[in-house]
Amino acid sequence: MYRNSFHKAIGVSALCVMMCAAPVFAKDSDKKMDAFITKLMKKMTLQEKIGQLNLPPGEDIVTGNPQASNLGAIVAKGNAGGTFNVMGAEKVQALQKLAVENTRLGIPLIFGMDVIHGYETVFPIPLGLSASWDMEAIEKAARISAKEASAAGICWTFSPMVDIARDPRWGRMAEGSGEDPYLGSEIARAMVRGYQGDNMKKNDEIMACVKHFALYGAAEGGRDYNTVDMSRQSMYNNYFPPYKAAVEAGAGSVMTSFNTVDGIPATANKWLVTDVLRDQWGFDGFVVTDYESIYEMAKHGVAKGANAAALALKAGTDMDMSSHSFLDNLETAVKDGKVSIDEIDTAVRRVLEAKYKLGLFDNPYKYIDLSREKAEIYTEDNRKAAREIAAKTFVLLKNEGNVLPLRKKGKIALVGPMADNQRDLPGTWSLMARPSKYKTLLQGFKDAVGDNAEILYAKGCNFYGDKRVEKWFSPYNASVMDDRSEENLIEEALKVAQEADVIVAALGEGTQASGESASRCDLTLPETQKKLLEALLATGKPVVMLNFSGRATVLDWESKNVPAILNVWFGGSETGDAIADVVFGDVSPSGKLTVTMPRSVGQIPIHYNHLPLGRPAGKDWKGFQVFRSNYIDVEPTPLYPFGYGLSYTDFDYTDFNLSSTEMEADGEITATVTVTNTGDRAGDEIVQFYTRDLEASTSQPVKLLKHFERISLKPGESRKVSFRITPDDLKFYNYNLEYVAEPGEFLVMAGPDSERVSSLKFVLKE
Ligand code: BGC
Repeated sequence: MYRNSFHKAIGVSALCVMMCAAPVFAKDSDKKMDAFITKLMKKMTLQEKIGQLNLPPGEDIVTGNPQASNLGAIVAKGNAGGTFNVMGAEKVQALQKLAVENTRLGIPLIFGMDVIHGYETVFPIPLGLSASWDMEAIEKAARISAKEASAAGICWTFSPMVDIARDPRWGRMAEGSGEDPYLGSEIARAMVRGYQGDNMKKNDEIMACVKHFALYGAAEGGRDYNTVDMSRQSMYNNYFPPYKAAVEAGAGSVMTSFNTVDGIPATANKWLVTDVLRDQWGFDGFVVTDYESIYEMAKHGVAKGANAAALALKAGTDMDMSSHSFLDNLETAVKDGKVSIDEIDTAVRRVLEAKYKLGLFDNPYKYIDLSREKAEIYTEDNRKAAREIAAKTFVLLKNEGNVLPLRKKGKIALVGPMADNQRDLPGTWSLMARPSKYKTLLQGFKDAVGDNAEILYAKGCNFYGDKRVEKWFSPYNASVMDDRSEENLIEEALKVAQEADVIVAALGEGTQASGESASRCDLTLPETQKKLLEALLATGKPVVMLNFSGRATVLDWESKNVPAILNVWFGGSETGDAIADVVFGDVSPSGKLTVTMPRSVGQIPIHYNHLPLGRPAGKDWKGFQVFRSNYIDVEPTPLYPFGYGLSYTDFDYTDFNLSSTEMEADGEITATVTVTNTGDRAGDEIVQFYTRDLEASTSQPVKLLKHFERISLKPGESRKVSFRITPDDLKFYNYNLEYVAEPGEFLVMAGPDSERVSSLKFVLKE
């Protein structure tokens, strides 16, 4: 159906007036760009201009109720500036041809896609990637994603998603970099660099789209699409930094969020989109809405129809994703005086500038080359990179008695719903994943041990065991859900477990249990999986739990009862090999948590960078402390804190020192710590530095990450790691939203995670 409508439309030949007339631009210069766009805009009718502001969805993927259909007809009428989530270069080519050859001015389309953590070569979900704390690896993952996506005609990715998330009930935590604004900012920059490369000059460099602006991760109750109400100080200090960092790194576009911010839908929030984003941060790209956000303004009870379109445009939003609101209403809104031609022109110019920067006016087919699609996707090199990167993201939470790494000998039982499962490997938002090509964990284990050991397998249980929930947990598993009784499945697993020397249980969430529209209240292991785990532990054999998750899950019981736990997130297409690399010790685990793991859902929100309290719970909590900030029933501390992760070797932190205990107002001092690998194998360590402002005009967090380094150390090797501290590192937004470093006492802390730190005091002078 899809293709027929195009072929019909393409049959009507038209002249490529603008394309053929477009001059060749040797260099991107603002002046040339301005002149070109001014000339083009002079030729455009109001309707043609409004068409550029419309972003209808491609017909392959739908996440809401698109108000448009028949994409081919929309494009041929000049009613689309671009489209998104169109799968495959051939379809992209057909649509581009339609725009270029069938519309009066032949303005090329921009093709977006949710390339969130890879194209067909899938990298770990972003939360997993963040746990590598490896900016080179993250940039490389984004670079490879851009190469593969562009080989399929895509020139614009709806990534990075930089929403800070402190609430793991929110399933979209999977798509971001966790709870820390500093780390989140570093990652935002690395991803923009990776996607846009040398400023989108080459045909494998695509435009980034920072999302979701803003504060989407702070949805009340962790329920997706929910309200956000927040102090401006918290916005500026805790949530805005990664968006700002992405803008500073040159991200070409920004996507608004679904939520309201202090009562005003983000898409129509002028303060956010114009005052903060453009005026304060200097963003000069274009702003696209999230899926149907303008239409949803009516549901928020704010505005509908022409009023909603006018409010969004006036707020500084340029392109309307999926709701058709601009297309249907802006002409009338102009007639009625609700928006001016100038306001429309401003938005159109921004959209055309993006196309110009991408080089689409020089060559609308720059990104469309069917031979590239065949040769450059899911290559050996890309897969090798994905495997290496995935292995860096796994976090070793517990390893009692050094159960891990496993030896490649004897019999190993591999059980659980993730053990022999291809389709749940890639994780959320893997539109172009081809799971049938991906190696299961079982195969990864078999390949790793070869003839030296025997891998025994049994499924052991379903993900959830209740078909109604299973289909949302793992849609794929639901369709093949094992109908045998829980008891039968466990019995079968126990048979192989009893034969084995060691048991590996591959448990956790299915691929869709996190991501968009995947909020959860109970973050513990589903009952059916817990029963399996209990039965396995009862054999008395060593058990390793692999926890697949798109968020921080609650592992309180497991932390007390299972000897070894490796958190493996969703590792992407090369998961099978990457997990085997770590489990069998070819690679030592080195990931560290970028989100706090709670003991109980009731502690949420729980994050390391909280404010100090007048009545904190006393240290070494043994039970409820009356008139203190704690709970009667649950220890108030994290189960595993931010920054935490073990290795197969050990690291010692010694000789922490400061070059001076005083810093001039325009000076700097250096904090240095010596890290030694005291174990007997090589390993990577992520060394973390935090600061605390001890006395400030507004209460400041007990700790803020300010610097980190990932280092590799051989057994016995030591390295000095330094943090050069300047007053800039001590700045925060005060009550008046001034960005200041206030003189006084500070702590600087160094350590392997946010809890096990040593601290030193210094003074910032007037
Ligand atoms: C999501 C966005 C995504 C868009 C386009 C929306 O439902 O919130 O993150 O980029 O769909 O697929």
